[in-house]
Amino acid sequence: MTDHILIERPQTSPGVLVIRFNRPDKKNAITSAMYQTMTAALTEANSDPNIRAVAFLGTEGCFSAGNDMGDFLGYAMSGSKEPPAGAIFIKALALCEKPMVSGVDGLAIGIGTTLHMHCDMTVASSRSLFKTPFVDLALVPEAASSLLAPKIMGHQCAFAMLVAGEGFSAAAAHAAGQVWKVVEPDAVEAETLALATSLAAKPPQALKIARELVRGPRDEVLARIDEELVHFTAQLKSPEARAAFEAFMKR
Ligand code: COA
Repeated sequence: MTDHILIERPQTSPGVLVIRFNRPDKKNAITSAMYQTMTAALTEANSDPNIRAVAFLGTEGCFSAGNDMGDFLGYAMSGSKEPPAGAIFIKALALCEKPMVSGVDGLAIGIGTTLHMHCDMTVASSRSLFKTPFVDLALVPEAASSLLAPKIMGHQCAFAMLVAGEGFSAAAAHAAGQVWKVVEPDAVEAETLALATSLAAKPPQALKIARELVRGPRDEVLARIDEELVHFTAQLKSPEARAAFEAFMKR
């Protein structure tokens, strides 16, 4: 366990498990240990009937700057044949059986953006920025975003986000259908927890069935995660990706 991820069960939000990024000095960049903590939390959410909704939150002004660049570089240089820790978390995310909501205030980069494509409702502050610079880092889209983003926002917006690496403001993300609601920064946390609490209070069996009907079967999502992963891990080890990570680390 690491305190870079806080797992909370607020008394004021019965039935809600909060997974909070808490590494603000590094813009909540996600390390392997953080992925492992979040994967364990999602496993707990599936098995504990008292957990009836999951809420992802970040810190003031930052949801997450995405995968830790040092970890990317370490993986690229390690020659590891194991999938990166992020891949296991992504599958747990796709298989989470409880409704998931997220609250974004500020930066949401890389998996800090694609994570919300697995969430059922996302609240964003007006100063949020969603951006996935995968191709600029010589990487490819992950977390089944290449499948989910075109479904959510259509080809043009998905291409702009995932391939061209264009940043989406909260308003643009809302217009594209990636965000449920845009609020002022100081309202993100309360709105997100209120949403999670209201879902947690609904009849759980009906909610589960309704959610499965709306989300659709998982097979296609899991297959796309695996397909992306083949390319993602190959690209991670490529000279062009290593050069991009080193350039960031040497800034
Ligand atoms: N991995 C590791 N460290 C990161 C990080 C990441 N993804 N993102 C930010 N940090 C660290 C910075 O190195 C810096 O650390 P330092 O204070 O020890 O030097 C600290 O967080 C603050 O970041 P900084 O770049 O100074 O803040 P900023 O407000 O100027 O810019 C970002 C914020 C997020 C735009 C910029 O840090 C960035 O582009 N990060 C990389 C995002 C990314 O490409 N993620 C991977 C997507 S697949």
